[in-house]
Amino acid sequence: TEQSPDEYWLFGYGSLIWKPPPHYDRRIPGYIKGYVRRFWQSSEDHRGTPEAPGRVVTLISRSNWEKLNDHHEADDVIWGVAYRIEKPKVEEVKKYLDIREINGYSIHTVPVHQADPTLPPIITTVYIGTPDNPQFVKDIPSADDLARHIFDSRGPSGENREYLLHLHAAIMELHPRSRDNHIAELAEIVNMLIARDGRGFS
Ligand code: BEZ
Repeated sequence: TEQSPDEYWLFGYGSLIWKPPPHYDRRIPGYIKGYVRRFWQSSEDHRGTPEAPGRVVTLISRSNWEKLNDHHEADDVIWGVAYRIEKPKVEEVKKYLDIREINGYSIHTVPVHQADPTLPPIITTVYIGTPDNPQFVKDIPSADDLARHIFDSRGPSGENREYLLHLHAAIMELHPRSRDNHIAELAEIVNMLIARDGRGFS
């Protein structure tokens, strides 16, 4: 079936992958091209506090990412979920997502490729925290430092480590080809810190 031009589809690449929006009538796993997903958005109100912000993911367009001198390789594609939101619910869902455009979120239109290559891409809206938004982490941390930061942080929505481990598990469940190397590396280090902590020699 053809996508009609007035359908509203949202691409989720963060908590939306395992925590769906309050209203949607279709959910389709898929991937986008031309972006890099990184844990470089600071979170003062969900997974951290203003005094000790946590870290959540954002997307960076490849052309911006190339200017940032990240020493880690980028994955070819970004797996996530396309949600179709019923028109009368779009404003409510946007409010729920708490996307503060004044805070530097920018709106992109991206095609989401479905795992089955015979199916057409879905045109979606994606909200990303660009490198010029105030919450963007300017100095690229090492994976060890970033994992330690996530391990140590918590906020009103819960522990930062829980966000990371949920996201990692959810990405691995989307499709047999779905994976994110940056997130897998952070999850591995955080799991090691948790195991070490449990044995009491942190
Ligand atoms: C997400 O979880 O994918 C997401 C949430 C809010 C804005 C953009 C993306």
